[in-house]
Amino acid sequence: MNLNWLLAPPLPEAVPCQRLLYQRLRAAILDGRLAAGVRLPGSRQLAAELGIARNTVMFAYEQLVAEGCLLADRQGTRVATLAVAPSAAVRPPVWPALARRASLAESPVAGPELGAFAPGVPDVANFPFRAWRGCLDRAWRAARPRHLGYAAPGGEPELRAALAEYLATMRGFRVHPAQVIVTAGTQAALDLCARLLADNGETAWVENPGYPAARTALAMAGLALHPVAVDSEGMAPTATDWRAHPPRLVLICPAHQYPSGEVLSLPRRLALIDGVRRSGGWVIEDDYDSEFARGGPALPALFGLQPDAPVVYTGTFSKTLYPGLRLGYLVVPEALAEAFAGASASLARSGQGIEQMALADFIQRGHYTTHLRRMRRLYLARQQALRAALARWPGPETGIRGGAAGLHLVLTLPDTLSDTEVVSRAAERGVIVRALSRYALPPMRCNSLLLGYGPVPEAQMSEAVRRLRWAMQPA
Ligand SMILES: Cc1ncc(COP(=O)(O)O)c(C=O)c1O
Repeated sequence: MNLNWLLAPPLPEAVPCQRLLYQRLRAAILDGRLAAGVRLPGSRQLAAELGIARNTVMFAYEQLVAEGCLLADRQGTRVATLAVAPSAAVRPPVWPALARRASLAESPVAGPELGAFAPGVPDVANFPFRAWRGCLDRAWRAARPRHLGYAAPGGEPELRAALAEYLATMRGFRVHPAQVIVTAGTQAALDLCARLLADNGETAWVENPGYPAARTALAMAGLALHPVAVDSEGMAPTATDWRAHPPRLVLICPAHQYPSGEVLSLPRRLALIDGVRRSGGWVIEDDYDSEFARGGPALPALFGLQPDAPVVYTGTFSKTLYPGLRLGYLVVPEALAEAFAGASASLARSGQGIEQMALADFIQRGHYTTHLRRMRRLYLARQQALRAALARWPGPETGIRGGAAGLHLVLTLPDTLSDTEVVSRAAERGVIVRALSRYALPPMRCNSLLLGYGPVPEAQMSEAVRRLRWAMQPA
């Protein structure tokens, strides 16, 4: 039997000969080229024919015997009868279907990108590397074996205490550290909230337009999404929304709606708490970038606006430090603290004990507030530079919204210009913008551009706007 084809070129680089021989023999057995019962040459003979070491052949034979593809006896080695007919083995497999909820995962509007004008992206080039490295070094030096295990339920006590103190100063919260639950970012916090605060099939209000990843988290946790329109004062539920779709959960970004950039007015905040209280539900307040509020202090958070408001609060370090850190936190009423810490420990089996310790140190040493102060100034200058460049090269937009917090502005387009078309044309010139329409669910119609200025140095703003203006010319 001529088996020279087993090692016939092309031979892939970097695959050891014994592995290659094994793979090719196995493939030939599975697709029927080597039929059941066929006797293979002895290892010495095959090695001589192929010009390779005998050990190489022996390895391949032994491996295939162990897998049940070959049988070895006193007469030698032969191909085994497989439970699956050879032809079936090479047919593309038919897998059982995915769960129905798999189709609920929305694809992100775009992948993570840096540069003009990626929205919601912090300037990681200005991350305080030295100070952070110092905190990490200290955390590793102080590490005990337990820090290499799963994190403590609810997070490392040092971080929970540092966050409680930070939130007291920055947001006026009066919370015990036990009410702070460390999570792997907002996404994990939403998953936890959806599972602990609502049952399968219950209604969750989401802002429209809204943040697709958050919608995915709630929908895939089994909730029925009800989109509520956003106007210039933030989420604007109608009487029908309240009557026909009473919410069990309301997910909202009051400080800076994403992506429209609006701030929820105080009357709307009070009305929302009142309505949710009556519907027996919970508000999840996503405060993802209020650290960069401008023009005076941010409006008080929903959490703590009233002493017994049914609100849980979530914050993240994705915008203030860097998204890959995957650390955020929930602040929950005292009565919920134990349930959240326990469920978080058993659901997520959280870790990053060392990073949590480093972060606690980073906050306690004042590095965090120093960094925030610096970035607030930097982002304000960038927003002003963007506005100035937009004014220098006037365009067809009918208005500029947002900018009260966060890292992006919203340009409202006239009906004659489609936001998705501008996005594609801008991409041709190396400019990243996002179409607001991509964040909206029917029946909401949007036609605006999101311009992130976070990662754009002032010196690059003019050129980026010039290219954007080219993309905004009528086709
Ligand atoms: C509305 C909103 N919430 C929260 C986040 C942060 O999510 P995470 O903490 O999971 O990175 C983002 C990030 O883009 C966001 O746009």
